Amino acid sequence: MDFVGSHILSVDQFDRGDVELVFRVADRMEPFAARQKITRVLEGAILSNMFFEPSTRTRVSFGSAFNLLGGEVRETTDIKVSAISKGESLYDSARVLSGYSDVIAMRHPEAGSVAEFARASRVPVINGGDGPNEHPSQALLDLYTIRKEMAARGATIDGLRIALVGDLKFGRAVHSLCKLLGRFNGIHFNLVSPPELTAPDDIVDALKSARHSVNELFRLEDGIRDVDILYVTRTQEERFPSQEEADRYRGLFHVNQHIYTEFCEPNTVIMHPLPRDSRTIANELDHDLDQNPNLAIFRQTDNGVLVRMALFAMVLDVVDQVERSARDVNWYTAKRDPGRT
Ligand code: CP
Repeated sequence: MDFVGSHILSVDQFDRGDVELVFRVADRMEPFAARQKITRVLEGAILSNMFFEPSTRTRVSFGSAFNLLGGEVRETTDIKVSAISKGESLYDSARVLSGYSDVIAMRHPEAGSVAEFARASRVPVINGGDGPNEHPSQALLDLYTIRKEMAARGATIDGLRIALVGDLKFGRAVHSLCKLLGRFNGIHFNLVSPPELTAPDDIVDALKSARHSVNELFRLEDGIRDVDILYVTRTQEERFPSQEEADRYRGLFHVNQHIYTEFCEPNTVIMHPLPRDSRTIANELDHDLDQNPNLAIFRQTDNGVLVRMALFAMVLDVVDQVERSARDVNWYTAKRDPGRT
């Protein structure tokens, strides 16, 4: 695809070459994210961050990524403080906000809403999560992390064995990641969920049609053996009709160090899109794994900045100018201090 000026709404837009291009650009962002170099290549540009659902990682890392490229960020973080709460349409909001911005990152609770907004926008829109539908930048950062973790083990994405565990019905990060992995060769999927929360049929059918191996399983211990990646997810309580219904599924799959040691291969990488639900009733990924070197969850979040920088640089067509305008950082930064990080 041609990234310049494009909306990023779904991983369906990307072929394998597009994904690999994003990853190559993300690699080039490392000196800037690590505070070794500064670039001001987006000086004067404005990102509007429109987050109509709670977010920590996606919102802040989109903002940090844009700031690291030299741009400014304007935020709307609650539908109640937006004129949408007064009945303004997505069309009007998009027309207005795109007049104030060079690019917009948006999260909204309704599937398809970000695409609807993008159709009226005069600037590129990046989907930060639309209901249970998609989370394309999360899938890119997840796959970028998988690529790095596998490379450190002398392997590639092709032939990957992955277990995806939890609420696979409503988990948009899982939906986007499955689709993206489907672009590669010979992936072995173990989809582990309660029977009521299986992955959507269209996603499973597409993976099978592309000749990937797909097992749908209902017991944790059946699904997490013999995998390279164990990708755990939270019950998406905000998608359920009631709290009581969500509570039925919380805590069904609990991964801790004991379970990891008993069932997983010693080198299995543990991932989670985060937030993990650390309340006792859920605790799908226990804090007793925090010192496990194969826990990659915070490498994922760090990688999110690199991938989002890459997307901004590609969409706004400054990739080749980023290094040209680079200079050294002149302040103390703990990120470059091995004793602190
Ligand atoms: N992974 C993710 O989307 O996290 P946030 O909800 O904190 O943005």
